[in-house]
Amino acid sequence: MKIAMIGTGSMGSGLGRALAAAGHEVTMGSRDRRKAQDVAKDVGAARGTGYEQAAADAEVVFLAVPWLAVEETLAELGDVSGKTLVDVTNPYGPTGLIDMGDSSSTEEVGRMAPGARVVKGWNTVYARNLAKPDFDGVAASVFICSDDYEAKQTVMALARDIGFDPVDCGSAESARGLTQLLGVMGGFNWGRDAQLRLLRR
Ligand SMILES: NC(=O)c1ccc[n+]([C@@H]2O[C@H](COP(=O)([O-])OP(=O)(O)OC[C@H]3O[C@@H](n4cnc5c(N)ncnc54)[C@H](OP(=O)(O)O)[C@@H]3O)[C@@H](O)[C@H]2O)c1
Repeated sequence: MKIAMIGTGSMGSGLGRALAAAGHEVTMGSRDRRKAQDVAKDVGAARGTGYEQAAADAEVVFLAVPWLAVEETLAELGDVSGKTLVDVTNPYGPTGLIDMGDSSSTEEVGRMAPGARVVKGWNTVYARNLAKPDFDGVAASVFICSDDYEAKQTVMALARDIGFDPVDCGSAESARGLTQLLGVMGGFNWGRDAQLRLLRR
């Protein structure tokens, strides 16, 4: 699958590396093309380029930038309508998680990128665990939600491809709960080597 990674930080490079290793055609997107090319080489991605060009050719676009840069980044991406847009962000402001009221980062991304098939995923997965989601033979869960059923299935399949256990958390509104879940995880001070796994029968 043709995948664009928007942002070459911890999440973007970790996801890019994992998806490339799983056989996907990954393009790393950066504000700095040179950096995109260097990171692409490092993570085994097919190529590196600017944000707009990276997104243009992709079926699935991962938005892996700080929350406060999302609006500007989406404006740079151009038209992403019809594409699956994976929101991995957590809405951090200068003093911690921002209270989004009756909304969530994912619902706001949907408003800022009309026509995009927005899917939430990986917001509770720490970047350091992207390379090794296996914990003593048990895959960490990745919580996924979207109003677009088909796009959600696509992203759940990508999660499986890179060794995670995808959990369908329902509609985009569930992103509100997923942000709260991240806050709860942080509050318990379990550390970034800990991940959640949903057990099912
Ligand atoms: N780190 C984690 O464990 C973790 C876990 C779950 C979710 N998240 C969320 O995932 C998103 C990315 O996190 P991250 O840890 O990958 O962040 P990061 O290491 O700081 O990287 C963010 C990337 O976003 C791009 N960017 C675009 N505009 C920017 C701006 N104004 N300032 C800084 N960077 C900008 C940069 O890539 P270019 O320079 O290449 O353009 C940068 O490398 C965030 O929303 C975060 O809350 C993080």
